Amino acid sequence: AEGDVAKGEKTFGKCKACHSIVSDAGETIVKGGKTGPNLFGVVGRTAGTYEDFRYGDDIVAAGEAGLVWDEETFDEYVKDPRKFLQEHLGDKGAKSKMTFKLKKGGDDVFAYLASLAPA
Ligand code: HEM
Repeated sequence: AEGDVAKGEKTFGKCKACHSIVSDAGETIVKGGKTGPNLFGVVGRTAGTYEDFRYGDDIVAAGEAGLVWDEETFDEYVKDPRKFLQEHLGDKGAKSKMTFKLKKGGDDVFAYLASLAPA
């Protein structure tokens, strides 16, 4: 379903403990934590490839196998990152450094992030 940008901006409040949004030009759009990668430009990005971040091995492997963040993959991932990687990689031992789970509203957050930096 098409997400709601305004709702997504509010829901992003749950993400900013760990994620900032900083434009390619260096403008801080959301000042958040650094536990997770910058989410500016995540729409259309290959998983695990933001340069200045040390990802876990499994999300990097998923990106190398072709995982790109679109509405469907993003929404599934944020619901349960570890389960998503396990299913995506077909590896029950896969792990995620992101332990947070967003039960609903992933489509809204996707729309919000897409509005800041379209793919
Ligand atoms: C990774 C979204 C909340 C910590 C990611 C990625 C996305 C994402 C899309 C993959 C990015 C990439 O491949 O470059 C979100 C959203 C959140 C949220 C939409 C809120 C709804 C959180 C929170 C934490 C967190 C609260 C910390 C408690 C991380 C970490 C990674 C990550 C550590 C790297 C995962 C790895 O290397 O395996 N997040 N996140 N995230 N996130 Fe979040």
